[in-house]
Amino acid sequence: MQNFLIAPSLLSADFARLGEEAAAVLAAGGDALHLDVMDNHYVPNLTVGPLVCEALRKYGIQGMIDVHLMTKPVDRLIVDFAKAGANIITFHPEASDHVDRSLALIRSHGCKAGLAINPATTLHCLEYVIDKVDLILIMSVNPGFGGQKFIPATLEKIVQARALVETSGKEIRVAVDGGIKADNILEVAKAGADMFIAGSAIFTQPDYKAVMTEMRNQLKKLKNL
Ligand code: DX5
Ligand code: ZN
Repeated sequence: MQNFLIAPSLLSADFARLGEEAAAVLAAGGDALHLDVMDNHYVPNLTVGPLVCEALRKYGIQGMIDVHLMTKPVDRLIVDFAKAGANIITFHPEASDHVDRSLALIRSHGCKAGLAINPATTLHCLEYVIDKVDLILIMSVNPGFGGQKFIPATLEKIVQARALVETSGKEIRVAVDGGIKADNILEVAKAGADMFIAGSAIFTQPDYKAVMTEMRNQLKKLKNL
C-alpha cells in the first residue's frame, strides 16, 4: 500500500506568526508544508514570494516545502523558489507557454516537479510530459482562496490521474488540493490520491495534531478494506 502524505496549507495559518505556525504544524505530524503563491493575475488573490520561503528556512524549518505557484508566468519564480529552499514546485499548465521546459527547469534545480490541474482542465496536458512529472496536483476547488467546498466532479479525475500513473509505471504522486477534511479524505483516497493538501480544516482548529490524527484514522480504513 502506498504511503499517504498530509500537507497542511499555510494559506490558512496566522501569517503574523508564520514561522511558529509552520513549526507547530510539522511537529503535529504534517508531512510537508504547502505554500500557496498567488499573484493577483493568474488568480484573484495575492500571497507570498520566495522571500517568505527563504525566511521559513532561516527560521529553522527543515521539513519539505511544497510550493504551489498560482502565478503567470512561472519560470523566473521557479528558479527563485528553488534557491529559496523549495523541495517541490508545482505550476498550472495554463500559466506557462512551454510546459515541458518549465517542468525540466524545476528538476534542473533539484526540485520535484508538479503540474496542477484546475477543475475544468483535462489531464491531456500530461500526455507528452509524464516522464518529467513527479506530482499531479488535482485542484478540487478553483484556485485562489482557502475554505472553499470540494467539487465532487473532480473525484473522477483523481481516478483517471491514478490510472495514468499506474500505466506510466513511474513514481508519481497524485495530490488533491481544496476542500479536504477528515470527513471526505477517505473518499478522495479511495479515488486514488496519496497526498492531501488541507488548509482551513487544520488551521481553524485549536489542535492541529487532533485533526491530522483523525485524517490518518480515516486513511487507515482504506488500508483495512
Ligand atoms: C487554493 C489553494 C489551497 C488552499 C486549500 O487555491 O491552492 O492550497 O489553501 O485550502 P482549503 O483546504 O481550506 O480548501
Ligand atoms: Zn494550493
